[in-house]
Amino acid sequence: MFKVHAIPPDRLPDLLRVMPKAELHIHIEGSLEPELIFALAQRNGVNLPYADVQALRSAYAFSNLQSFLDLYYAGASVLLHEQDFYDMAWAYFLKAKADHVVRAELFFDPQTHTSRGVPMASVIEGLSRACRDAQTQLNISADLILCFLRHLSEEDALATLEAALPWRAHFIGVGLDSSEVGHPPEKFNRVFAQARELDLHVVAHAGEEGPPAYIWSALNNLRVERIDHGVQAIHDAALMAHLAKTQIPLTVCPLSNLKLCVFKDLTEHNLGQMLDAGLCITLNSDDPAYFGGYLNDNYVQTFAALHLNAQQAYKLAANSIEASFADEAKKHQWMHELKLTFQGFAEQD
Ligand code: ADE
Ligand code: ZN
Repeated sequence: MFKVHAIPPDRLPDLLRVMPKAELHIHIEGSLEPELIFALAQRNGVNLPYADVQALRSAYAFSNLQSFLDLYYAGASVLLHEQDFYDMAWAYFLKAKADHVVRAELFFDPQTHTSRGVPMASVIEGLSRACRDAQTQLNISADLILCFLRHLSEEDALATLEAALPWRAHFIGVGLDSSEVGHPPEKFNRVFAQARELDLHVVAHAGEEGPPAYIWSALNNLRVERIDHGVQAIHDAALMAHLAKTQIPLTVCPLSNLKLCVFKDLTEHNLGQMLDAGLCITLNSDDPAYFGGYLNDNYVQTFAALHLNAQQAYKLAANSIEASFADEAKKHQWMHELKLTFQGFAEQD
């Protein structure tokens, strides 16, 4: 077994970059870079209310989740055809490959597209084809998680799940995203019960801006297998104890939290505290094109800000692999590769 203490601290950033890791919280529409937004707008004849890439990028100054979502939904309006969805996902996979991501579970928001008249087939088939190519061409294992927009009604979510059922084999789970406060998890009890009946995995955003009660509700009512974000759990000692005991994973996204003003500064982020409290924490990028960094940027910047060490790097990468919905044989193989990577960085005595 490698000795983490034998890893020189100055090698930690390189180790963070090359260690195999899984990304479990990435909204694929949030990987749409301004350059691709403009290219797709031109290809599809869509008018954008920004003069150029620079003007759009300079609008990326957010005060909270809603101020971001308004721009994020506007950006997604350039996606019309199957090839657009493929191109968006493929651009993400190239970044993921550079970051040594071995497993990616991609959130997508069908209602953002079907409400504009885009067929469900275009959305799912484009994303699904990119996932298959990620496996064959990049050796990245990838799957899709269909998210319901929580600012819309449960009836709309139920209709969306039904409309997606012809493509049941193309997604592995359902999630819950969009504007959190005022839209508690229990609003979606029935659609999550249906998803569980269909043997879909279930996850939900909870405790990003919303209170610990929303995390309890996601656990007890929706019976989620992972909590997306969950950083507000820190305000509820009983919840922290419960999360530590059950080891329900949290998919934490530090640069997102910083850009959406959940924390004033990265040095104030509670990821280190939650790791110390024994929670199963994973690190993720959320909407990397909007928040100034892909997965390795999140690792490197968070480790620098919070003075985290090699032991914690191993734990976060191992958690990401173990908390993924990949099959056990693949997880076993990635864990082996993770150990070999750490051994390679340990100085020999
Ligand atoms: N949709 C895309 N990014 C999101 C986030 N961080 N929270 C909720 N919904 C989202
Ligand atoms: Zn998210």
